[in-house]
Amino acid sequence: MTPILLEFQIRGDERGSLIALEAERDVPFEVKRVYYIFGTQSGVIRGRHAHRNLTQVAVCVHGACTFALDNGRGGRCEIRLDRPTRGLLIESMTWREMADFSSDCVLMILANRNYDPNDYLFDYAKFCEAATSMQIEPGP
Ligand code: TYD
Repeated sequence: MTPILLEFQIRGDERGSLIALEAERDVPFEVKRVYYIFGTQSGVIRGRHAHRNLTQVAVCVHGACTFALDNGRGGRCEIRLDRPTRGLLIESMTWREMADFSSDCVLMILANRNYDPNDYLFDYAKFCEAATSMQIEPGP
């Protein structure tokens, strides 16, 4: 599994840098929700879940953290997000774990849906089962 990375254009000048993220242009969906994670304690692992139906882009706007992604069908990858110019696309049915947060890490997530606690899969074994069964073509 290869991480899908989005490289954002810096609109910089002598005063500094600016990145603008526009829905359906820089981010491949209509953004419904933005949240950010900061002040993460050392040694913490966040995430540990998948979403049935949610597409997200994660941007480490400050500091760094590591994402481990898993498609539940044997595909895995790990990527360190350490720059504000880069977004990681996380599609539906992707198990994610975030670790090794720097103390100054601000991790911003853009999502194509509002918060829905019923969309979460928290059980890894059930997630793998669901991800595998999605691969099976329906019978006649
Ligand atoms: P949680 O999903 O545990 O964060 P992560 O999986 O990324 O480590 O979210 C922490 C808390 O914030 C939890 O009580 C749910 C709440 N929350 C919202 O209210 N809205 C949101 O959009 C998100 C992502 C979380």
